Amino acid sequence: MAFNDIAGRVALVTGAARGIGRATAAALLETGARVALTDVDGSLVSITAGTLDPRRTRTRAYGLDVRDADAFTEVVRRTEHELGPIDILVNNAGIMPIGRFTDMDPDAIKMQFDINVFGVMNGMRAAIPHMRRRKRGHIVNIASTAGKIGMPYAAAYTAAKHAVVGLTEAVRREEADQGIAMSYIMPVPVNTELISGSKRMRWPPIQEPEDVAKAIVAAIRSGAVDVYVPKGARWGQILQAITPRPFYERVGHLLGMDRLFGEVDEVARASYRRRVFSK
Ligand SMILES: NC(=O)c1ccc[n+]([C@@H]2O[C@H](COP(=O)([O-])OP(=O)(O)OC[C@H]3O[C@@H](n4cnc5c(N)ncnc54)[C@H](O)[C@@H]3O)[C@@H](O)[C@H]2O)c1
Repeated sequence: MAFNDIAGRVALVTGAARGIGRATAAALLETGARVALTDVDGSLVSITAGTLDPRRTRTRAYGLDVRDADAFTEVVRRTEHELGPIDILVNNAGIMPIGRFTDMDPDAIKMQFDINVFGVMNGMRAAIPHMRRRKRGHIVNIASTAGKIGMPYAAAYTAAKHAVVGLTEAVRREEADQGIAMSYIMPVPVNTELISGSKRMRWPPIQEPEDVAKAIVAAIRSGAVDVYVPKGARWGQILQAITPRPFYERVGHLLGMDRLFGEVDEVARASYRRRVFSK
């Protein structure tokens, strides 16, 4: 089921204090939706909601760590009570520690799965029963192009995003006759703090959070399942499927895939690292 008209519908966005989540909340508000903005950073998400909706007539802001399944259930309940039935859930919260896999702190590996995978599962399990009762809803999970290809120096992140793709594909089929649509979004690098200090690739061009937000709104309207941002990034996957591995890997190398997270400016990345690991 796709929502041609998003106006008046209620959406919940995780990780909405900044970056792609914030841009998504803004885009949904623009369509006329009511939006529950949630984030582990409760004070910043409150400021973000106040900036996007100064009179706070169509937003609520809740501190929510997506790792906490009970807290997620409670935020869904509060949102339904204060804003109305949730039609749209955007599981956006995510982190990306990077570095050589064998050098990575085991806690950082685990944390990526706790937030990027189990956080998404918690959101789906909290929202789907409500949507199923009403036979309508749309779950949007933010994956990454790393959900389809192997990104060197972001191995655990790659594994986590592959999990998000597989999870969405499977649950989508379980709920297909329940009126619940599901999409997963696969952006290339996006200009947020998450990629601070990383190199740029020759192609595809870096995206802005607003580009991803626009694609999310379009997916909610159309019911598209697997969404690349930009659309042309799908060629990476097509190339991988139809060309011999040495050719495909050479193209990736020439485009700068190995340098992207392999040659990081640690000074530029320091504040992101501090933010992610202080929680
Ligand atoms: N930026 C990119 O290049 C890019 C590319 C593809 C996919 N993505 C995905 O997009 C999503 C958003 O990333 P972003 O670039 O906006 O990052 P960001 O760091 O700018 O924002 C992420 C937000 O999630 C919040 N968050 C982190 N841990 C949380 C937790 N445990 N519970 C609740 N909220 C939490 C942070 O506080 C932050 O506000 C992530 O899932 C990321 O993996 C990003």
